[in-house]
Amino acid sequence: CIKSIILAGGSGTRLWPLSRELYPKQFLKIRNRSLFQDTVSRCLQVSDISEIYVITNESHKYFVIGQVEELGHEIPEENLLLEPEGKNTLPAICYGIKEIEKAHGNSVVGVFSSDHVLDSDAMETIADAQKLTSDYLVTFGIVPAYPHTGYGYIKPGEELEVGKKVLEFREKPCLEDAEKYISEGCLWNSGMFLFDTSIFLNEVKDLAPEVWDAFDSSDSIQDIFAKMPNTSIDYGIMEKSSRVSVVELGYKWSDMGNFNALYTESEKDDTNSCTLSCENVCVDSNSNFVYSKHKKLVSLIDINDMIVVDTTDALLVCPRKSSEKVKSVVNILKERN
Ligand code: GDD
Ligand code: MG
Repeated sequence: CIKSIILAGGSGTRLWPLSRELYPKQFLKIRNRSLFQDTVSRCLQVSDISEIYVITNESHKYFVIGQVEELGHEIPEENLLLEPEGKNTLPAICYGIKEIEKAHGNSVVGVFSSDHVLDSDAMETIADAQKLTSDYLVTFGIVPAYPHTGYGYIKPGEELEVGKKVLEFREKPCLEDAEKYISEGCLWNSGMFLFDTSIFLNEVKDLAPEVWDAFDSSDSIQDIFAKMPNTSIDYGIMEKSSRVSVVELGYKWSDMGNFNALYTESEKDDTNSCTLSCENVCVDSNSNFVYSKHKKLVSLIDINDMIVVDTTDALLVCPRKSSEKVKSVVNILKERN
């Protein structure tokens, strides 16, 4: 049996205005269940509810409690870890691992993002990678479809009992490097990991001493996070560690990072468009993603490959290929406030 950590503290800026700081993408029910609920269901295949830890923040707390309840479970209070401020994934994971060690002793822990679409059969392969955790930090690789610059790249080497030793881990390379990594047979980092708690904490001590020092004190969690550097597991540990292995996941996987990903994952009509929560009357319009919170009739004429998202107080219109730029809008809005 493995313990699970679910990371649910991100704000999903590239799905604005659907996803908001106070209502981020992992909790949105764009279809009937949220990505967070799908993640909890998958974790329940390998962990008991008492072994699932959710790392999030105060403002998302009730989404977590309520959405777990809707699945017919109750998340124990001590398994809901609230960060006083978001300092990215390495501090979040460390917080979870430390609490798990305190409650259960040395354990094998799976780390799961809450913004993925993943075939639930993958959980068997993930649990089977326990064979590697006494020697390695285990990553899970996906065969890349194109040179995406928002992912980590993993270069596999020597064959192990299951999976392979990792020769290089590179987070979010530039396009040129992403192309090079693909031609060298690299895999995408799926953003899920399997760790032995003591091996993981040793690596943190060696490779991210500032994070280790922050936790290794008797300060309150507020003070610990106040002095914590902002760093992701990928830059902070995976790029630096020499004991990383990778197990390939041959399953359907997608990071619902932006509207184009949402479009790609959703069912299309006969104009190759995806219309959610509204009616769409199209004239010579193809391959669009249309959403209206108000179940409004949306009509498009001679519009192709566009995103139209209408909410109570904001409207987004942009080409599908510019989906990554949506986060710039959020950054500008933040600066204004
Ligand atoms: N609790 C908490 N606190 N959760 C966080 C925080 C935080 O400060 N920051 C991010 N998260 C959560 C997000 O909600 C998401 O579920 C997960 O951690 C990963 O964070 P992202 O911000 O979505 O990372 P990414 O997509 O840019 O990159 C990661 O995932 C890619 C695959 O989806 C990396 O691991 C890449 O290497 C990987 O390819
Ligand atoms: Mg992500």
